[in-house]
Amino acid sequence: MKDQLFKVKPFQQLIDESTNDSHGLKRALTATNLVTLGIGAIIGAGIFVLTGEVAANYAGPAIVISFLISGLACACAGLCYAELASMIPISGSAYTYSYATLGEFFAWIIGWDLIVEYLFAASTVSVGWSGYVVSFLGNFGVHFPKSLTTAPIVYNELTNGFEMSQGGIINIPAIFIVFLVTILLVVGIKESARFNNVIVFIKLAVILIFIFVGIAYINTDNWHPFIPENTGAFGSFGLSGVFRGAAVIFFAYIGFDAVSTAAQEAKNPQRDLPRGILGSLIVCTILYIFVALILTGIVPYNLLGVPDPIAVGVDATGITWLAPLIKIGAIAGLSSVILVMLMGQPRIFFSMAKDGLLPSVFSKVHGKYKTPYMSTIIVGVMSMVLAGLFPIGVLSKLVSLGTLLAFAAVCLAILILRKKQPNAVRPFKTPFSPYIPILGIVSCLGVTAFLNAYAWITMGVWMILGLIIYFAYGYKHSKLRNT
Ligand code: ALA
Repeated sequence: MKDQLFKVKPFQQLIDESTNDSHGLKRALTATNLVTLGIGAIIGAGIFVLTGEVAANYAGPAIVISFLISGLACACAGLCYAELASMIPISGSAYTYSYATLGEFFAWIIGWDLIVEYLFAASTVSVGWSGYVVSFLGNFGVHFPKSLTTAPIVYNELTNGFEMSQGGIINIPAIFIVFLVTILLVVGIKESARFNNVIVFIKLAVILIFIFVGIAYINTDNWHPFIPENTGAFGSFGLSGVFRGAAVIFFAYIGFDAVSTAAQEAKNPQRDLPRGILGSLIVCTILYIFVALILTGIVPYNLLGVPDPIAVGVDATGITWLAPLIKIGAIAGLSSVILVMLMGQPRIFFSMAKDGLLPSVFSKVHGKYKTPYMSTIIVGVMSMVLAGLFPIGVLSKLVSLGTLLAFAAVCLAILILRKKQPNAVRPFKTPFSPYIPILGIVSCLGVTAFLNAYAWITMGVWMILGLIIYFAYGYKHSKLRNT
């Protein structure tokens, strides 16, 4: 059984699959589309919402250091992703790479873990979207009942437990946006990419406006103390707070890997996937550092724990017309993250179903639209349930944990493939291997240690569920072992 579980997909088979276009998906994406796809996935609830929570609760102005720590982990993982994506340009991302290196069992675990990244991230960002929409409409006197815009469950950081929220029943705006994006995705990838380009432009514009306007209003007193003293609780300011901040704000970087899930829809994947992955990561890292510095320079960090911290930063400048504009940009920006995440997940399911690990309904391609419509709809429905019932803080930490584990696996895959397939064609090579992949593994796993216990417990339960499904279905139907 051991040999069966750890059977790896023959490397050549993956290369053949990646060049075979009979999968029915359209090759429509250019390098620019891929960079914008990446930026579309990256800049979202992390910078627009979670920056506030991290500055106010964990790191203060030292959120800048938190950004640098998680940025380092992402840079290492991004370089590894770029090598794998250029070698094996097939949709499925870390799942596929693990199949070729660590074997089927681990591939399933990583695939199952990636659900926590993509599907849960789509839900997380929808909750952030809901917060900005409610705040924006509030500026114009339109007020929704709290019960219909708030999750019924909250997490209490002090008692480390879940509680019923005060007055929340369901988050309708969050469900609504997932519904809209799902419809768009069923209709077509090309149309979705065009919609994404427009939104990315708006989102970058508001971030740049914030940076250029905000810089003049910095009061350097707000940066002192740069690392506020620890309150006595682990992770609440001080050095442990900076690291917990890194683990939470890591969420802001997630998405560059989504570029690799569009491998089979890229025109020239070998050349363009590394460009898409690394290009989008570099642009976003630079913007994040500036936004974090300016935001904590304009507003005392303890005032930033709100659903729309960037708007609070703008308000502090006294330029009243700018806040609604920033909110529109944030709403647009968050929409594109939801789009890319909801696009990535069905494509991972698609690959898993093609391998026989999931039922074939997940790999059904629409006759007219050429999209994996069944898995898109299934993912949409699951994401709506999560978005309607859970708050952003709960979902985002799970996403960070799931993604950090997947990134560590990708770095490990580089080390293994360099040994097993030393002569394979590598259009892009991770520099300074094995040091960069090792640093990637250490930094990703190191950061996970600072996440709350509930994130680990939930992940454990999720993994047990995954194992049950694998042995009940995937193990029996795997094409690799049954042909
Ligand atoms: N990085 C994405 C965001 O911040 C997931 O919304």
